[in-house]
Amino acid sequence: MKKFSITVAGGGSTFTPGIILMLLDHQEEFPIRRLCLYDNDEERQGIIARACGILLKERAPEIEFRYTADPENAFTDVDFVMAHIRVGKYAMREKDEKIPMKYGVVGQETCGPGGIAYGMRSIGGILEILDYMEKYSSDAWMLNYSNPAAIVAEATRRLRPNSRIINICDMPLGIMVRMARILGIPEKDLDISYFGLNHFGWWTQVKDKEGNDLMPALKEYVKENGYDINIEEDQHADQSWHETFKKVRDVYAVDPDTLPNTYLKYYLYPDYVVAHTDPNYTRANQVMDGREKEVFSAAREIIEKGTAENCGFMKDDHASYIVDLARALAFNTKEKMLLIVPNGGAVENFDPEAMVEIPCIVGRDGYEKIAQGRIPQFQKGLMEQQVSVEKLVVEAWAEGSYQKLWQALTLSRTVPSAAAAKQILDDLIEANKEFWPELK
Ligand code: NAD
Ligand code: G6P
Ligand code: MN
Repeated sequence: MKKFSITVAGGGSTFTPGIILMLLDHQEEFPIRRLCLYDNDEERQGIIARACGILLKERAPEIEFRYTADPENAFTDVDFVMAHIRVGKYAMREKDEKIPMKYGVVGQETCGPGGIAYGMRSIGGILEILDYMEKYSSDAWMLNYSNPAAIVAEATRRLRPNSRIINICDMPLGIMVRMARILGIPEKDLDISYFGLNHFGWWTQVKDKEGNDLMPALKEYVKENGYDINIEEDQHADQSWHETFKKVRDVYAVDPDTLPNTYLKYYLYPDYVVAHTDPNYTRANQVMDGREKEVFSAAREIIEKGTAENCGFMKDDHASYIVDLARALAFNTKEKMLLIVPNGGAVENFDPEAMVEIPCIVGRDGYEKIAQGRIPQFQKGLMEQQVSVEKLVVEAWAEGSYQKLWQALTLSRTVPSAAAAKQILDDLIEANKEFWPELK
């Protein structure tokens, strides 16, 4: 059986250990010969990498393991690049969240002005990695989690149209695991229809393997509880995630014909979100005090003890999704998966030149899109507005246009006026000097 070479870009990510554990779990169906971590912060990556080195030596000594900040070393002789970089790291996420809040506007990692600011930082970082991959391993696939995935996907569509990149998100799978738990069936038994943009989508059908309609039972639950339910090995287990899953109840109420993605709360209930956010302690602070501390102290403990036995690393949906995708491409499994892909008519009455999140069949040659037909006016209206935000951000980045970025912020449903958009933008420019192209 063929063995594969994988490079994880953003090796110092809090999600790297989970992906490695998941890869180790799948050695029979998806064997690895070489695993490399790549990051531009050697110190941060060094901690995760030394711990993973100990773990791999104990559990799979046959895998050649290395970590590096050198692109040629990282991207030569690679089959898959799994990317999850965060340009500007948590320090900049904190600013993305806090600056809009100063003006009473949603401050969020991927939605509204914060997501736009993060997009302006991510585009360059992702294009750089994609170019390294194509230079040193032109047949490789890049599987990208790096956020904001909607803007990153639009940037690669516009600026690298022929590249072998697939952009993905773990939120729909995280929700489907909840749906399965609500229904008391295995997640792999769900057969769904879904359309939207990334962090901006809706399920139109949920069936079981025999084709029975599961929507009525799900709606009964969601109407009362949203997607709130306890599950184990959950990356979305904090109190703030529980609140997000509960709030789905109100998002669902706006269109009871479909089941919504959790992220729609930022667009449909921005006033509620602002009222329920502490402007001095946002999600970035929770993550720095939570997941980041936990993962890095687990890594330090492994290094100190010299063993990864009973270690604190965890795997979750995030890891299982990207490993399933790589396996589908490697072994032609023809699995149905939600991907962020160029529309091209798959959503019939929507911009063919937009990146949409829809189910695809994944195999050796990439993916085939499953057409989702015509969508209702409500969702179409929301999506036209949001996709225009995403396109304007990419145009602003490519052209260095202040005007287009101001328009992008103004068009976001989370921003009340052009005046507020301008104030937030000027603050964001100041905070992002090191990362954004100069805007004129
Ligand atoms: P993190 O800050 O712990 O890790 C990101 C790593 O990327 C850091 O070690 C950083 O040094 C590195 N990095 C930054 N810029 C780089 C560059 N230009 N080249 C190489 N490395 C670079 O972040 P995290 O919380 O673990 O999340 C990682 C990424 O995954 C984020 O973009 C996050 O939004 C994303 N994510 C996406 C999904 C999804 O559904 N698409 C789900 C979870 C996380
Ligand atoms: C979900 C989304 C990701 C996002 C993450 C944030 O998994 O799909 O795109 O990055 O949540 O989680 P956090 O715990 O970092 O706030
Ligand atoms: Mn996501």
